[in-house]
Amino acid sequence: MGHAIAAAELLQWRRRQLQAGGEASELDWLLDLEGGIRWQALQQLRLYPDQSVTLAKPLDRLEALWQRHLSSAAPLQYLVGRCPWRDLELEVRPGALIPRQETELLIDLATDRIAAERSPLLWADLGTGSGCLALALALAWPGSRGIAVDQSAEALAVARRNLETHQRLDVVELRQGSWWQPLADCAGALQLVVSNPPYIPTAVWAELETGVRDHEPALALDGGADGLAAIRTIAAGAMAHLAPGGWILLEHHHDQSSAVLALLHAAGLEQVEAHRDLEGIWRFASARRPGATP
Ligand SMILES: C[S@@+](CC[C@H](N)C(=O)[O-])C[C@H]1O[C@@H](n2cnc3c(N)ncnc32)[C@H](O)[C@@H]1O
Repeated sequence: MGHAIAAAELLQWRRRQLQAGGEASELDWLLDLEGGIRWQALQQLRLYPDQSVTLAKPLDRLEALWQRHLSSAAPLQYLVGRCPWRDLELEVRPGALIPRQETELLIDLATDRIAAERSPLLWADLGTGSGCLALALALAWPGSRGIAVDQSAEALAVARRNLETHQRLDVVELRQGSWWQPLADCAGALQLVVSNPPYIPTAVWAELETGVRDHEPALALDGGADGLAAIRTIAAGAMAHLAPGGWILLEHHHDQSSAVLALLHAAGLEQVEAHRDLEGIWRFASARRPGATP
């Protein structure tokens, strides 16, 4: 059931909330996701303050969430319990990283490399978190089979619910463990591996804004002294686990491109290439196991 309110009243409420602190873009995100008022509609209200709007949730519920956000610095996505990512709406809980917009591009890099007709396709997502990448791959290739790995039981529980909600739990297997360790039975068989591993150097992680550092899991972010601990392990195991001709796609920190390319070369992979994110930052690397695609 909707909650009707005069536009002028809503705009006044918005001004009052922002006087207490916080970012306007975040409050508008809350109004959109929880209140059901799209950003464009909010702009229109300024032109027509006499009209009435219908909120999906009562204003006091939105205010309580906003106040909790201001007092605890907890990300709104955790307080609301969900977030948009690509064309999906995903559940997010503390224990699973909030999926970032830049990571969406890993899916496009994957679909650009793997021909849809190459079936049966076996792929893995290392460090699945909320399951965002695994779910998007399972939706992109309905006939494929995937394995989503994470060390965190909490993250895997969130991934399971997201896959279940989108009816993909039958084609994606969840395995708990460290990187390649739960994939011993897939040696030489994976046609695609994607990973957005923890890659932030510990000293940089320690200085992150509190909303990220104190509320999102350190296991998802802290990549060790130089940020490359996980990527070293992943690169080192790629040859043994990829099928001949199989691809690996990695996300990394803004200043790690040459180091990651070197690790992929050193692992014996070929067609090693860097890719930019939407802001032009070298954010991804792709590489291929030599040999003919089966
Ligand atoms: C940057 S998050 C990425 C989550 C998700 N794929 C995404 O893009 O939003 C890294 C993930 O790696 C997981 N992780 C950390 N160390 C791991 C390990 N040794 N083995 C498997 N997963 C690990 C974390 O729990 C976290 O879910």
